[in-house]
Amino acid sequence: MDSYELRKLFLDFFAERGHKIIPSSSLLPTDPSVLFTTAGMQQFSLYLSGKKDPIKDFNSRHIATCQKCFRTGDIEEIGDDTHHTFFEMLGNWSIGQDETGYFKEDAIKYALEFLVNKLGLDKKKIHVTVFKGEGSIARDEEAINIWLKYGIPLERIKECSKKDNFWGPVSDTGPCGPCSEIHYDRGEELGCGRPDCGPNCEYCKRVVEIWNLVFMQYFKNDSGEYELLSQKNIDTGIGFERLLSLLNQKSAAYETDLFADFISKLEEISGHKYLENKKAFRIIADHIRSSVFVISDGVEPSNVGQGYVLRRLLRRVIRYGKTLELDQQFYLPLVDIIINKYKDIYLNVFTRQESIIDAIKKEEYKFEATLEKGLSIIEKILLTKKELTGEEVFDLYQSYGFPLELTQEIAEEKGININIDEFNSALEKHQSISRAGAEKKFGGVGKDAGEEGAKLHTATHLLHAALRKILGEHVQQMGSDINTERLRFDFKHAQKMTPEEIKQVEDLINLKIKEDLEVKKEEMNLDEALKSGAIAFFKEKYPDQVYVWTIFNPDSKEVFSKEICAGPHVEKTSQLKLFKIIKEESSSAGVRRIKAVIN
Ligand code: GLY
Repeated sequence: MDSYELRKLFLDFFAERGHKIIPSSSLLPTDPSVLFTTAGMQQFSLYLSGKKDPIKDFNSRHIATCQKCFRTGDIEEIGDDTHHTFFEMLGNWSIGQDETGYFKEDAIKYALEFLVNKLGLDKKKIHVTVFKGEGSIARDEEAINIWLKYGIPLERIKECSKKDNFWGPVSDTGPCGPCSEIHYDRGEELGCGRPDCGPNCEYCKRVVEIWNLVFMQYFKNDSGEYELLSQKNIDTGIGFERLLSLLNQKSAAYETDLFADFISKLEEISGHKYLENKKAFRIIADHIRSSVFVISDGVEPSNVGQGYVLRRLLRRVIRYGKTLELDQQFYLPLVDIIINKYKDIYLNVFTRQESIIDAIKKEEYKFEATLEKGLSIIEKILLTKKELTGEEVFDLYQSYGFPLELTQEIAEEKGININIDEFNSALEKHQSISRAGAEKKFGGVGKDAGEEGAKLHTATHLLHAALRKILGEHVQQMGSDINTERLRFDFKHAQKMTPEEIKQVEDLINLKIKEDLEVKKEEMNLDEALKSGAIAFFKEKYPDQVYVWTIFNPDSKEVFSKEICAGPHVEKTSQLKLFKIIKEESSSAGVRRIKAVIN
């Protein structure tokens, strides 16, 4: 089955069942708090929250779409089987309840009917997950009973926590709810062989997720609370590329009709084989496709926001082109192939063809001018040593437009070290100089460093404790830094945190802030402190006499965090208001870095 057929089958299936087919919205959402459209429900957010009436605007509360989506979080994962920056999402909605609105039962019935009767998937290979209940939100027994009723046996129904089975909101606030995912068993030969292998297996990709059914009943408000929505909605999402690959027994969408012409053209112009150069081929394919779509929706390369994401994509395309010894403008026929492949589905890739080609050429021109110079500077530095200092990396960034990730990739290829801490300090120094300049110019006044500092120190302890609770006790502080605006925290952890983990950590900290825990300081000698269970990761650095800070619930006396620290701290966690992680990234091998703010 090819991509055209699959989109049509899905939309026809739901149209036949009374759904209005709505065109995809732009990749640039109207909500300014999010950079890109990351899910099909975004354009319906106000309807799902009950603020707008779908009957009035669509003459139906049942909707289906094929939506363009873009996720930046996974740029570094591109090249593997399943991640894409740009992808499409198929979805169906039932917004609000009256005699026509449907909820869990029909959503489940439709999904099974489509997968089994329309697409011919084997029902015996379908596994599902349901929400097992957490916090104030109950276990989804109703969904379990419906799955059983429709013939999915208990041994293929897995109950999972909020991390896997609670969806949304897409920004800080908005509609969300527990969900039930449909997974498909691709066969024993792809498995890890463990007895508990199944959906969300940590060891293999034998069972893959294909469809997420969200039972949207909540609204996460400004204070991080889940309010019951005035209406119930169904919101579903199928990863189009994932389903297409599965139906064609391919493990990656690069091997389906979506990219077939692209890959053969790239083989032809480069003289290299896809199978021997999968990573470079896949990065070029993914990034050219997403650049075409991002530009067609009106973004131009720049140094900020969406434009910076686009710049990173294009500069990576050009650089990976060089690893395949491709000439300048090698991408022209490839851009053409993408435009041709999608022009019947998303007309603006065709109508904006000239702007797309123009923007890419201009960016190549700008980058080429600096790339040669930058690369020769790197070569020169490496004649005498095996490391790039942070200042040198910063200079490449500042003067030659080398995004940090690009220098990191070059360094990795050459097997040399770069000092990211030093780069970050150079960047921060530069930014605080510009900020100081701006403050002077606009007469701005800095925040009270003393009070802000105390809040950020306390937030750092809450973060450390929350990470150990959510990710595990292997998390150890490796460093931290606080300025007047944000905290930075480095810790031992091998994998990139998932968006769900980040949200769980934020939610836990915000809960502790709301519970208004007390922050107590005690002076004791180091041995006593360690015996009392206080954590300390720089043992050799402490004096004999230390301060132990305990963050605890004054009613239940339950301790959330106990750490040795030289302070300063606040007295009550409620002084912190809202905690938010603004960045999670790699700091060095096996060490992650979080930047967070409190408001
Ligand atoms: N909104 C459902 C999903 O993106 O999975």
